[in-house]
Amino acid sequence: MTVPIGIHDIALATGHYAMDLAELARHNGADVNKYYIGLGQTSQTVPAPDEDIVTLAAAAAKQIVARHGVEGIRTILFATESGIDQSKSAAVYVQDLIGLPAASRAVELKQACYGGTSALQLAVGIVARDPEQRVLVIASDIAKYDLDSGGESTQGGAAVAMLVAANPNLAVVDETVGLYTANVQDFWRPNYRSTPLVDGKLSVSAYLEAVEQAWKDYEGRGGRGVSEFAGFCYHQPFTKMAHKAHTRLLELKGIEATAARLHADLSPTTIYNRAIGNSYTASLFVGFTSLLDHSDDLDGRSVALFSYGSGCVAELFSVTMVPGYRAHLRTADNRAAIARREPISYEKYRALRDFTLPEDGSELVVSARSRSPFRLTAISGHSRIYAAAHAQ
Ligand code: HMG
Repeated sequence: MTVPIGIHDIALATGHYAMDLAELARHNGADVNKYYIGLGQTSQTVPAPDEDIVTLAAAAAKQIVARHGVEGIRTILFATESGIDQSKSAAVYVQDLIGLPAASRAVELKQACYGGTSALQLAVGIVARDPEQRVLVIASDIAKYDLDSGGESTQGGAAVAMLVAANPNLAVVDETVGLYTANVQDFWRPNYRSTPLVDGKLSVSAYLEAVEQAWKDYEGRGGRGVSEFAGFCYHQPFTKMAHKAHTRLLELKGIEATAARLHADLSPTTIYNRAIGNSYTASLFVGFTSLLDHSDDLDGRSVALFSYGSGCVAELFSVTMVPGYRAHLRTADNRAAIARREPISYEKYRALRDFTLPEDGSELVVSARSRSPFRLTAISGHSRIYAAAHAQ
């Protein structure tokens, strides 16, 4: 790589409602500390009926386009595992909604929560071939499990949009990566289901095995040592998972994983995920955004990122922060996106869960509920119809 390539900008969007996990505990009789402490989650984003992965993605991507324009964007990579169509890419809707160039390729990528990282790495490759181009990478997901299942406490939703470019403002994506793929049936969603099937305990152990194997591959390829990183971001299905993963990594390297060490290494990365819940493909990048918004000394320093997608594929990679990156952050907007969510009771959450889009071809007008700049307005002719809020 002759020119540095990486993340030029990163923007976050999340859904309209938030349910405190005390509400779930009130419903199912669990001790709320199981959620607050045991899982490390305080609340979860719940989307409004007029929100889906496309509206979240467009809300995140709009911020990028407002700051940088569309020039040079010839590729839109949309990672998701809560896709709305088996054929048409969600990226095409976003291209239209935010006015991206027609002279572009717009595709969707899938491998559970790993999809966002694969999109980022593919984007780096495209820019390496032509540094004049910029690639819009979007990771957008709504995590929804069966009612009254173990996974329900780990639901959530968010989108992260990143502009990948040469000579980036924020972070250079480093070349050395560690990879791991294994055929594990820990979490999957057959085409006929709207919620995944999950073996929770197996998924945790498969994730931890992937940390170890990806790190070993990374090390074997000449990667940095643990002490060379100023931060560690993990995929966070729930924030306690980052603690388990980092403990596994430290112990592998013979380092004692004390509570103080875990807090110092991880706490800035878990603040947003703790409130949002799992956002699948976006989760790792929500954690990265949280790190950037809650650290003040990362100029020129490297951050390790661990991406895990059930099934499973994992990647350990790193970025090196560009000096002066802090001038380009969106800290106030990110905090506001989380803080302005409307708190809801368990009963309201159940009512929202009971709302489903027609699956038999019938028409539906979706009433305006969210404050999102883009809304799902109708189902018509088996199609989702979207509109910008100002156009309604
Ligand atoms: P569970 O049965 O609800 O909870 O399953 P638990 O009994 O295992 O308890 C959770 C923790 O709370 C335990 O801590 C308890 O001790 C603790 P740990 O032993 O693990 O350290 N606890 C308490 N702590 C304080 N006070 C209390 C209390 N009570 C209990 N009173 C599970 C939890 C995560 C398995 C479940 O929520 C689940 O199945 N979630 C969905 C799957 C998942 O998130 N897996 C994570 C790894 S796989 C992954 O990350 C990929 C994924 O994002 C999907 C993709 O890639 O597409 C999911």
